Amino acid sequence: MQNDSGTNVQKLINTAKTLVAGDKGLLALDESISTCNKRFAKYGIPQTEEFRRAWRELIVTTSGLSESISGAILFDETIRQTKKDGTPFITIIIDSGIIPGIKVDIGAKEMAGHPGEKITEGLDGLRARLAEYAQMGVRFAKWRAVIAMDDGIPSWGCINANAHALARYAALCQEAGLVPVVEPEVLMKGVHAIEQCGEVTAKVLRTVFDQLYIQRVMLEGMILKTNMVLPGLTCPKQETVNDVADATLQCLLQTVPAAVPAITFLSGGQSASLASDRLNAMNIRFKSRAPWALSFSFGRAIQQPALDIWQGREANVSAAQQALYHRAKCNRDARRGKYDGEKGVV
Ligand code: 13P
Repeated sequence: MQNDSGTNVQKLINTAKTLVAGDKGLLALDESISTCNKRFAKYGIPQTEEFRRAWRELIVTTSGLSESISGAILFDETIRQTKKDGTPFITIIIDSGIIPGIKVDIGAKEMAGHPGEKITEGLDGLRARLAEYAQMGVRFAKWRAVIAMDDGIPSWGCINANAHALARYAALCQEAGLVPVVEPEVLMKGVHAIEQCGEVTAKVLRTVFDQLYIQRVMLEGMILKTNMVLPGLTCPKQETVNDVADATLQCLLQTVPAAVPAITFLSGGQSASLASDRLNAMNIRFKSRAPWALSFSFGRAIQQPALDIWQGREANVSAAQQALYHRAKCNRDARRGKYDGEKGVV
């Protein structure tokens, strides 16, 4: 950011702050076409552009969503789509007081020479794509790197290459006036213990922040989106909510600079209620001590209960929207340390 004008710097800082103000958080609705189709397949929802459009229309027209959601991350297909009546989704989002964001990586691909590992692609032509999105009214972006855990992995090659790509993406975003959401995700799949997840997450975050420094990314104008420190999905020992909160903060306090305004967690396949419970515990135990906001950027943990209800049917739209509104509010409550479970609503 050294060549940038003060105006751009201030704009980035303001956007980053606004994205976590008022105990609100981010809603990720940026599933790629294939991921969205996979989710639809489970319910027998037709895997067509029209059904993806209808699902996204349901989400962006949910009334009151902006009470809990500050920013929505879209996918390229979605940002160009409109409501049935022709109103562009991006107009609806902006008019409702939500800041539009965009996923700009083009996916995690098999990494050459690194069996079982992936490298996220999308740097080629990124400057021009960012300029187009900025023109459309987008104010932040997302790039996700995935780090798998198994025997002998992650490798340094995978961690370094992904951290480097994240930092180059982040620098390009700031040049374009967009806040980069920098997302290294250590996956939950595996038998590993929570301690191993903590070690790998710390190694990944240290490498990412090294690279962000080398690429001159302004920390005050970015957001870190990362995983909670969790035991592997098939690990026999599953820690309590409070233990997860403690392990996560122990890792983050050692690795994330205080200049970063916010950490927004991904849900990564946790159930909606567990993700809220864990975020709630982190805020109860650490909100007053942590230098950054502890927020959310959930995809499945906000959308899943609504998708369960919708199932592709017009008659279910209103009930699905209520479920979506409810999950978003649960997570705002969790940011306040005031989430008190499900009370039988969803
Ligand atoms: P999940 O909360 O479903 O993990 O999605 C968040 C996200 O945006 C992953 O990139």
